[in-house]
Amino acid sequence: MANKPLKIVETVIRDGHQSLCATRMRISDMLPVLEQMDDVGYYAIEAWGGATFDACLRFLNEDPWERLRTLKKHLKKTPIQMLLRGQNLLGYNHYADDVVREFCKRSVDNGVSIIRIFDALNDTRNLECAMRATKDAGGHAQGCIVYTISPYHRDEDFVKLGQELVDMGADSICIKDMAGLLAPYAAVNLVKALKANLSIPINLHTHFTSGMGDMTYLKAAEAGVDIVDTALSPFSCATSQPCTESLVATLKGSDIDTGLDLKKLNTLAEHFKKVRTNIVHDFNLNNSINIDPKVLSFQIPGGMLSNLLNQMREMGVAEKYPQLLEEMPIVRAELGYPPLVTPMSQIVASMAVLNVALGRYKMIPREVKDLVLGKYGKTPGPIDPAVQKLAIGDAPQIDHRPADDIPPQLKKIQEKLADEGFTNASMEDVLSYASFPDVALQFMKGSIIGSHFRDM
Ligand code: CO
Repeated sequence: MANKPLKIVETVIRDGHQSLCATRMRISDMLPVLEQMDDVGYYAIEAWGGATFDACLRFLNEDPWERLRTLKKHLKKTPIQMLLRGQNLLGYNHYADDVVREFCKRSVDNGVSIIRIFDALNDTRNLECAMRATKDAGGHAQGCIVYTISPYHRDEDFVKLGQELVDMGADSICIKDMAGLLAPYAAVNLVKALKANLSIPINLHTHFTSGMGDMTYLKAAEAGVDIVDTALSPFSCATSQPCTESLVATLKGSDIDTGLDLKKLNTLAEHFKKVRTNIVHDFNLNNSINIDPKVLSFQIPGGMLSNLLNQMREMGVAEKYPQLLEEMPIVRAELGYPPLVTPMSQIVASMAVLNVALGRYKMIPREVKDLVLGKYGKTPGPIDPAVQKLAIGDAPQIDHRPADDIPPQLKKIQEKLADEGFTNASMEDVLSYASFPDVALQFMKGSIIGSHFRDM
């Protein structure tokens, strides 16, 4: 068999610290080793996404666009990768196409090479605009298959989805297993099915949450997956990605040897070990995050389960918690089996809590009604007709792309920002404001005060 090195995407400066350190890594924590990271030979370095963008503005007093440009200045050889929520960009609501196009263009212009684009429902209509804009801007558009387990998520369903992504011009495909549900032998079957039917590279992204992540990578690599995402040891495992160094060592000498130099990785790990200690100290973070195989039974991470228990305690119905665990999969089925990724996990969970506390579908939150109406896109399975009737009565479900109902927004957002006093805001600032209006505004006002003080 020909030598075919497994390619590695390093996630330490995005998903790694997002998963384990509340996204608090600062550009100053990264700067000392960026050239060394650039020298490793990674396929890409994931560096940007919704949470990193938000945390920059909200907690770190950093302009996320400035961070991106700084990263690009130091990462001269290795492509920078970002994560984008399709038509939702970095948030949870759909934007108009003009905002989506501009965001993708500016991301590429400021240094992103690969945009990984996903939709919580795997509705490809919600990826269309972002994928086209990425390619028009000269970027690599990676389309996502959000992985979950249900009667509507069989390998043949994923292959069909992969084919749609290829037809839309995807340069590669990512199997996005955000909850760590993809078991090693299921990964073999899925990767083989995709490789047999699609000719573009397949990238696997998992989390170690269930404790299976590195076994899944090994089996997927043997089955022919092209690229996997890992994090350097200090920011690996638990709810983050499997560890870069361990996987590199595992494959050494095999026909899929990554070719990466463990010595270089060890030196980088030394640095990030200190970074983690500093971040935990500076932001007073909980540093005991463990694996949680329970996710395999409930499909939602234990952290969220304990939040739900607290919620039920506050409502005075803590004794009904065991019923909640039974109710959740039923609600998920009735709502058409959405993958339990944000915001679907919250929507399903809050409906289940209300059902258990007040009686089934006695009170229905707006988000559930919107999901039933089709405002998030098409659910993988059909909505239960009785639940549909309770949620939206005889109102028709929309059957077109949800963003078709949204008129252009960019100019209005620009005008709103001007009303706040920022008449000459850069397009990047406008997009920050479009993404996180309150924090972006506060950040921009703060930097004016900041520069005022600097002037004195
Ligand atoms: Co992830």
